[in-house]
Amino acid sequence: MEVKTSLLDNMIGVGDMVLLEVLTEDSFIENLRKRFDHNEIYTYIGSVVISMNPYRPLPIYTPEKVEEYRNRNFYELSPHIFALADEAYRSLRDQDKDQCILITGESGAGKTEASKLVMSYVAAVCGKGQEVNKVKEQLLQSNPVLEAFGNAKTVRNDNSSRFGKYMDIEFDFKGDPLGGVISNYLLEKSRVVKQPRGERNFHIFYQLLSGASDDTLKRLKLDRDFSKYNYLSLDSAAVNGLDDAANFRTVRNAMQIVGFMEDEVQSVLELVAAVLKLGNIEFKPESRSNGTDESRIKDKNDLKEMCELLGIEQSVLERAFSYRTVEAKMEKVATTLNVAQAYYARDALAKNLYSRLFTWLVSRINESIKAQAKTRHKVMGVLDIYGFEIFEDGDNSFEQFIINYCNEKLQQIFIELTLREEQEEYIREGIEWTNIEYFNNAIICDLIENNQNGILAMLDEECLRPGTVTDETFLDKLNTICAEHQHFESRLSKNSKFLNDHSLPHSCFRIQHYAGKVLYRVEGFVDKNNDLLYRDLSQAMYKANHSLIKQLFPEGNPAKVNLKRPPTAGSQFKASVGTLMRNLQTKNPNYIRCIKPNDKKASHVFTESLVRHQSRYLGLMENVRVRRAGYAFRQPYESCLERYKMLCKRTWPHWKGPAREGVEVLMGELPVPAEEYSYGRSKIFIRNPRTLFFLEERRRQCLQELATLIQKIYRGWKWRTYFLRLKKSQIVVSAWYRRYAQQKKYDKIKSSTIVMQSYIRGWQARKLLRRLKYQKRCEEAVTTITAYWHGTQVRREYRKYFRANAGRKIYEFTIQRIMQKYFLSLKSSMPSKSPIDKNWPARPYLFLDAVHTELRRIFHLWRCKKYRSQFTEEKKAVYEEKLEASKLFKDKKALYPSSVSQPFKGDYLEIRKNPKYQKLNSAVEEKVLLADVVNKINRANGKGTARIFLLTKKNFVLADQKTGQVKASVPLPDLTSVSVSTQSDGFFALRLKEGSASAVKGDFLLSSEHLIEIITKLHRIGATAADREQIDIDISDEFLVQFKQDKVCVKFVQGVAKNGNSVSCKRKNNRLLEVSVPTKA
Ligand SMILES: Nc1ncnc2c1ncn2[C@@H]1O[C@H](COP(=O)(O)OP(=O)(O)O)[C@@H](O)[C@H]1O
Ligand SMILES: [Mg+2]
Repeated sequence: MEVKTSLLDNMIGVGDMVLLEVLTEDSFIENLRKRFDHNEIYTYIGSVVISMNPYRPLPIYTPEKVEEYRNRNFYELSPHIFALADEAYRSLRDQDKDQCILITGESGAGKTEASKLVMSYVAAVCGKGQEVNKVKEQLLQSNPVLEAFGNAKTVRNDNSSRFGKYMDIEFDFKGDPLGGVISNYLLEKSRVVKQPRGERNFHIFYQLLSGASDDTLKRLKLDRDFSKYNYLSLDSAAVNGLDDAANFRTVRNAMQIVGFMEDEVQSVLELVAAVLKLGNIEFKPESRSNGTDESRIKDKNDLKEMCELLGIEQSVLERAFSYRTVEAKMEKVATTLNVAQAYYARDALAKNLYSRLFTWLVSRINESIKAQAKTRHKVMGVLDIYGFEIFEDGDNSFEQFIINYCNEKLQQIFIELTLREEQEEYIREGIEWTNIEYFNNAIICDLIENNQNGILAMLDEECLRPGTVTDETFLDKLNTICAEHQHFESRLSKNSKFLNDHSLPHSCFRIQHYAGKVLYRVEGFVDKNNDLLYRDLSQAMYKANHSLIKQLFPEGNPAKVNLKRPPTAGSQFKASVGTLMRNLQTKNPNYIRCIKPNDKKASHVFTESLVRHQSRYLGLMENVRVRRAGYAFRQPYESCLERYKMLCKRTWPHWKGPAREGVEVLMGELPVPAEEYSYGRSKIFIRNPRTLFFLEERRRQCLQELATLIQKIYRGWKWRTYFLRLKKSQIVVSAWYRRYAQQKKYDKIKSSTIVMQSYIRGWQARKLLRRLKYQKRCEEAVTTITAYWHGTQVRREYRKYFRANAGRKIYEFTIQRIMQKYFLSLKSSMPSKSPIDKNWPARPYLFLDAVHTELRRIFHLWRCKKYRSQFTEEKKAVYEEKLEASKLFKDKKALYPSSVSQPFKGDYLEIRKNPKYQKLNSAVEEKVLLADVVNKINRANGKGTARIFLLTKKNFVLADQKTGQVKASVPLPDLTSVSVSTQSDGFFALRLKEGSASAVKGDFLLSSEHLIEIITKLHRIGATAADREQIDIDISDEFLVQFKQDKVCVKFVQGVAKNGNSVSCKRKNNRLLEVSVPTKA
């Protein structure tokens, strides 16, 4: 999303001093105040950022702000340090220009904060990734370490940097940080041993004592109490808003992140402790025989502890504090030190120890953060150097001199690069230009650094000069050499202007710096420049059994005794500033000019005089004037044309011809007044930022329109291609669909046609089939018939030859043979023709069983027939009777079987022949069918009486055996039934029809040996005679017999045979006759 803001939006005062309508110092200051009152602490002068210290946290450094300023034009948003950082970072990344960010201002103006803001912004916007983040983290974490050791509370600033710092951050071609190099300048080491009122020593001392664990303190032989240490000022040990203990932890953590080993950290802390211990060593005078005072250590305990900490032999150090060895012309002379010298030596050692430790820390950090890759780097340098310092009471010493010299040099660079360079460029480019007067401080720099007669050179000369050298001799020298310099004043200077200035104290000199006059006290200049540490001390340090100390004092190595003096502090500083300046000159400068609004570290307080003073010596007004007189913006024709060519139809999209002409055409077409720009030789110069904004705005609009056009065409193209594709696809789809539909339809028609066809064809075919089948059947029938016929004929012809028939033939033959044999054998072994002959030959074959049996039956029947055919009529009758008897009695009466073999004779008495029965014979008319003697049973006693029993065709007669007298003649029709027993007796009762004449005397109970014959005949004849079917034969062992009136029951019982008389009949009672029949043995 495009945020349509501009520097000009919601502007409080003016965001860019160049745009001030009336440019006076008052309006300038007023603008600053107005903006400051509205929390607008940043204001531009062209591309220079003025930063006012708000002395309170402002919510303008949030990640959102970072995003807001990221990749935006410098003038697009309200002034901000991020805009400058972004501009610098982008031109580094995109245009491959090394950058430097120069942060200047008084102590406490916010330089260090500004440098941290720049670094954090760059860290936030540059690349991300594990490796990159580690580098970033290390770069950022180097700050707390250096601040702990190099910052201190001063009256101006609770966290004042007491050293100058220049940090090169190195980037790769993508803009990712690779590492960095830190240079440090002149640590204010005098602070280690003495602090001005209301100020503190370096933070680390307080942090260590407050924040270290009890263990650590014990090991370092330290006490938590600040007051125990001479080197720590007591009046402001605790600072508001500074948590030393927490900061100690932060520092430890930062050291770890930066890559300090644990033993390195310990060594560093041991050194810090040693410095504190050193401060507690005190000396007392001891008179010697030669009248001089010699110093002695008061209390050796601290010395002892310090030596233990650093692994130094106590006696060596003790001696070094008492004697000084001077080498002259290869001779060593040991002179004793007095108390003052001993204190001097002690403090010199402490200062050296601490400042060398600080330098070592910087190089150790550099070792960690240095870029690994050997590829070409892009560099962004951030310079945070102590600001111009003036102590109003004239208490300015060597340090201030050096610091102010450095600021003088920086101002020089600023002038070089902004004012002079700018004007020179106009001249170079042939732009009409009225020279702007500005103060060039080169003359002051020359006063200080000139190799022949510069103040530093003279100081060095004094230091190296043999003979007595004091600060006064140095001042004398200055008075002689610099007396005529415009910017130098002293009581004795020959500069007539100041001759009458009695405010100038003795032993002081004054330099009129670009930022104001500064009064320097010469006291200590020589010493501090000499920076002398007695060789005995450095050698004692070198002997220490402590890795870090040894490294810090390489000159103490007796093997490398160097009689040449080490370079003086002044010349060292001059050299390093020279290097720095050369370094900065190769880079594209970006300026942040910090201003402190008041002296009280208070927010919302704007001390006008103070601001006015700062803006004056910072040359801000000149800066604005040059910007205003000159051109706010310039650009080579090529890049200008490239950037703005879309603003004119003739230059868009390509301009064929020289770039300058293109730009001229372009500008000619734009509604920009001609005085707003000038054409240089290779660049166009735009006077007003407003014009630039205008161009930028037009460009933005144009770009938007172009983007819209591109989008339009692209979208048109995209949708048209899309449409064409759709259309094409639609055609393909519809073609396929139509094809499919038609195919479907065709398939349907085809299948219906096929159905119809198939029906018709089927019908036709069936018809044909029927016909053909019929034909075929006919043919087949004919064929079959003929075949059968032929077959028959052939078979008939050939049957006789068929083997198949042989079996049957053989079988039939065999059967015939068997049968023949069978019948022949049967014939030969025929049994007799007697029907009772039971013999019958055995059957030869099982299969003949049925035949055999049948034959036997037939034979038997035949035999019987044959037998019967021999019978006469009489015999035939006899057999018929026998048959009848069988029918009547067989299996009914036990007597029957014994009768079978007896022939029925009939006339046993031969009545007709026997004369005895003449009478009887005549009484019987009919032919006698049976004549026998029977026993008539007397009903009274059961005894039998013999009677003759005659049977004729019409009746039966009972006659007396002896006389032949007929006793009874009963016509057969009167006989109703005959009763016999089932047993083997011959008893039988003839029962007569009740009411008939014969029945008067009652029924007859008779017994006969021929019972069976009698009854059979009675039965035959009785039936015919009575013209009825038959006479009932009642066979039972108990029957009633009618005797006259009485009915007597005849009962047959089984009895035992008694004396031959087989059957006995007894009358039991009136009604019962019991016949006992013996059981057959
Ligand atoms: N941008 C800022 N916002 C808030 N406070 C600031 C800002 N700049 C500086 N300060 C305050 O001012 C104090 C001094 O700033 P510092 O950068 O240490 O000054 P210098 O380095 O110029 O001596 C800081 O400790 C901080 O409290
Ligand atoms: Mg600082």
